[in-house]
Amino acid sequence: MLLLPRNTVSVTNVPGRNTREVTMSEVVRASLSIDSDLMSRFDQLIERSGLGNRSEVMRDLIRGRLMDEAWDSGEDGAVATVTLIYDHERRRLTRQMEDIGHAHHSEVMSSLHIHLDHHSCLEVIVLRGEPKNLRQIANHLMGLKGVLHGQAVFCRVPTNEDRR
Ligand code: NI
Repeated sequence: MLLLPRNTVSVTNVPGRNTREVTMSEVVRASLSIDSDLMSRFDQLIERSGLGNRSEVMRDLIRGRLMDEAWDSGEDGAVATVTLIYDHERRRLTRQMEDIGHAHHSEVMSSLHIHLDHHSCLEVIVLRGEPKNLRQIANHLMGLKGVLHGQAVFCRVPTNEDRR
């Protein structure tokens, strides 16, 4: 792995190395092209976090993304919190956030606003509804111009089956 050029990521599943992979029927080796700066930042993240090697982390990312997709296609009730940090001076952004809130009033349960300092605001918005809709609203909010940092956390509302 270390002999690969820095701009190449190798994704290899080796049965037996990790108990989760013992049952895998076939091993494939894949490579992808990636910006060298991005790769170097990814390597630093792996190093700092002690998450494992590139392949393990890539597999976890892929599994996570696939789980997200499965979650999106469900129709069960879900909740989400969307955390936004933005510049207080961006008045237009505040207005846009308000418009989104009114457009999705049945999904927006609550919001919390904290003035972090003279310039920055923190807003946490709590959503409830169908997973697909929540993802869409969250992406819309996080994608607004002027949002410096956006993060969404999604949870399924537990059903009776979950409580058994
Ligand atoms: Ni504020």
